[in-house]
Amino acid sequence: MHTPNHTTVGIIGGGPAGLLLARLLHRSGVDCVVLESRDRDYVEQRQRAGILEQSTVDVLRSSGAGERLDREALVHDGIELRWDRRSHRIDFPSLTGGRRVWVYAQTEVCKDLIALQLEDGAPLLFEAHVRAVEGADTDRPVVRYTHEGQARTLTCDYVVGCDGFHGVTRDAVPDRVRRTYERVYPYSWFGVLADVPPSSDELVYAHSPRGFALLSMRSPTVSRLYLQVPNGTDPADWPDERIWDELDARFAVDGGGWTLKRGPITSKGVLPMRSFVSEPMSHGRVFLAGDAAHIVPPTGAKGLNLAAADVIVLARAFAELKETGSTAGLEAYSATCLRRVWRAEHFSFFMTSTLHTDPAQGPFETRLQISQLDRIAASPHAAAELAENYAGLPIG
Ligand code: APR
Ligand code: PHB
Repeated sequence: MHTPNHTTVGIIGGGPAGLLLARLLHRSGVDCVVLESRDRDYVEQRQRAGILEQSTVDVLRSSGAGERLDREALVHDGIELRWDRRSHRIDFPSLTGGRRVWVYAQTEVCKDLIALQLEDGAPLLFEAHVRAVEGADTDRPVVRYTHEGQARTLTCDYVVGCDGFHGVTRDAVPDRVRRTYERVYPYSWFGVLADVPPSSDELVYAHSPRGFALLSMRSPTVSRLYLQVPNGTDPADWPDERIWDELDARFAVDGGGWTLKRGPITSKGVLPMRSFVSEPMSHGRVFLAGDAAHIVPPTGAKGLNLAAADVIVLARAFAELKETGSTAGLEAYSATCLRRVWRAEHFSFFMTSTLHTDPAQGPFETRLQISQLDRIAASPHAAAELAENYAGLPIG
């Protein structure tokens, strides 16, 4: 593929944020190049979350990437919460004025966007390792990267770092202006994929004295399940039977009538949990989007949706610049996104701390968690607060 030396928007990272931004810019006639350090297979297979909000589905559809999603995604109108051997369903449409969520894995979103981009889109280079982004304060920021064994440069009018938490673009924001906020949790998620139909039509989030568990799904025949485990857990210590027994114990409710279906486990992995925000989300002509700027623990299913919200705001700002010459949208980008980011940070922290058992917590904290969950079950106002955040707030 011919590799340009200059572009309007240099995008670092071809995860969901970078790929969606490239799609939106291409549709607005703004040229860009995407540099992704991994190979295509890796990006398409990497297991991540799978819940899409209305606004994420809307943007995928309007950018032409909604066809398979509309055929294959499972539409969900609620989730189930379990605690104290009881369960309570949160109904999204009735509590939020009609909002719902879609179950469609991030891997599938990436596959759809990559296929579109390679067929009709801006250049997308795999195995292009960005080493540094320089000149954020100048009119011509420069991206230094290695591709096919050669050191290369891409000069840009603007650079967007969509290179995730471990990316390099964040370093283009100087220490003197950068503020970071972080919390690392004293537990991780142990996630498995199993070839068995989901045991429930909707996701089940369970608080239990043994720790948190989540039942999710990838399709009508594939379940995705998670268990809270101590940090540093080795999957080798978890034979399949131990996993199923533990899930059974954590999802248990009184009165019977529900059983966890077991099946062959096809993948296992441990995910650490972190909250993180880096402010501001731009400096000079360099912008950050998605996990490069913020991380949420997965309990609120916000990570992918936040990444999509960032790039929607940014793509609008670039379209405005192209059409009117105004940089107002670009200047407002960081402040506009951070309002939504902090709302999602709060919600994700709330879901995480309400449903997990902190190893340092005592009976007092456990009673507070139960009281909070009881309140959600008793009050439509409390339930609506959860439902609105989970199903997603409109993009400002
Ligand atoms: N050069 C080029 N590419 C890079 C570099 C680099 N130096 N560093 C990282 N990347 C690539 C990674 O290989 C990855 O494909 O940037 C991409 C970042 O993608 P994600 O980590 O998926 O981040 P983002 O696109 O912001 O998506 C956020 O992913 O982590 C989940 O829960 C999160 O669902 C959310 C979503
Ligand atoms: C998932 O299906 O992987 C998933 C669903 C909901 C979450 C987190 C992960 O909150």
